[in-house]
Amino acid sequence: MSFFESEKSVIQVSGSALTHNLNLIKGKVDLDCQVMPVIKSDAYGHGILETALLFENMSTWGFGIYEMEEAAILRRSGIEATLFMLSGLLGEEAEKVLEFDLTLGVVSLDELEELESRAQTHGKRVKVHLKVDTGMSRFGMKPDEIYWTAKERARFSHLEFEGIYSHFACADEQDHAANERQLRLFKDVIHQVKLSGWHPRFIHMANSAAIMFNKESHFNLVRPGIAIYGALSRNGEARQYPGLRQAMSFSSQIVHIKDLPKGACISYGHTFRAKGPIRAALVPVGYDNGYMRKLSNSAEVLVKGRRCPVLGNVCMKTIVVDVTKIPDCRVGDEVVLMGEQGQEMVSAVELAQKASTISYELLCLLGKLNRRILLKG
Ligand SMILES: Cc1ncc(COP(=O)(O)O)c(C=O)c1O
Repeated sequence: MSFFESEKSVIQVSGSALTHNLNLIKGKVDLDCQVMPVIKSDAYGHGILETALLFENMSTWGFGIYEMEEAAILRRSGIEATLFMLSGLLGEEAEKVLEFDLTLGVVSLDELEELESRAQTHGKRVKVHLKVDTGMSRFGMKPDEIYWTAKERARFSHLEFEGIYSHFACADEQDHAANERQLRLFKDVIHQVKLSGWHPRFIHMANSAAIMFNKESHFNLVRPGIAIYGALSRNGEARQYPGLRQAMSFSSQIVHIKDLPKGACISYGHTFRAKGPIRAALVPVGYDNGYMRKLSNSAEVLVKGRRCPVLGNVCMKTIVVDVTKIPDCRVGDEVVLMGEQGQEMVSAVELAQKASTISYELLCLLGKLNRRILLKG
């Protein structure tokens, strides 16, 4: 076995952390408010099917997804829960909405027309939720388009207008003025559509941060993503939201140890120079594993429950860590790059901040690029 055998590095997903987080979120919303876990992008790297199976009997409203391929995986694996397509769809995908019995978040009038015509051809009815662009300026219909649709909804006799929703742009920044503006506009739109006689059964806007910090935005359905995975922070702080448990951890092993003299320079570019004699351990993980190069000279890993700095630049397949303070460490010892060991923890939020990114990106990359196992307990 070589140093770099991928067997040595592994992503572990804690099933009990995922279910704990879902229950914690349920406790944050009123009893008449339902929860739709967002499991797009392979459940943020945690495994879409594994996550859906885990939550299947936990009384969720259904699951939020983004791609038709995700719907295919879930339906073909026997998941019967409501699948809510968050992203809108392209023309020919309308057929798949019918095939996979999806509920569609509609983001344009063209989509409505397309869906109505396909549903009519097949003699089926499709549930839709209209998405209002209240300020994210990404997907979503303008308020005027929503009013028109609400008034003309009888024209779309094969669509069931079940819900209305929107999405915050800055929910993780509690005091950002856009939050209040978006919420006010969304409420206005709801008021107007009700005047035209449409009373949407489901109204939703809150993502994880809004669930935790903006109760007024809960309505009767919420869409948590990052909080489910236990990596929510507030205002870009390096601290994760209290009570949540991070579900993903990433560990590897020491494959080589060497003693280096004062003045030794480490890794590409010689960006680290030893101020005294040091013990350096090599760990077979690098940016090819999603352990970003931005973590060079800034991240810490855990060895025997102690924090050890990453020395020099992260390579494609290797990092060098300082184990000078741990004289009894050996080749084969576990190295935790993200997660807990002993009393210490390197959180996704902390690591993401050091890499100048957000926990979402880190989890997606690590989950996708490494061997992954789900721990049931
Ligand atoms: C429309 C929509 N709702 C909810 C979410 C979940 O967001 P978060 O992970 O911040 O909870 C997402 C994720 O990007 C989304 O696109």
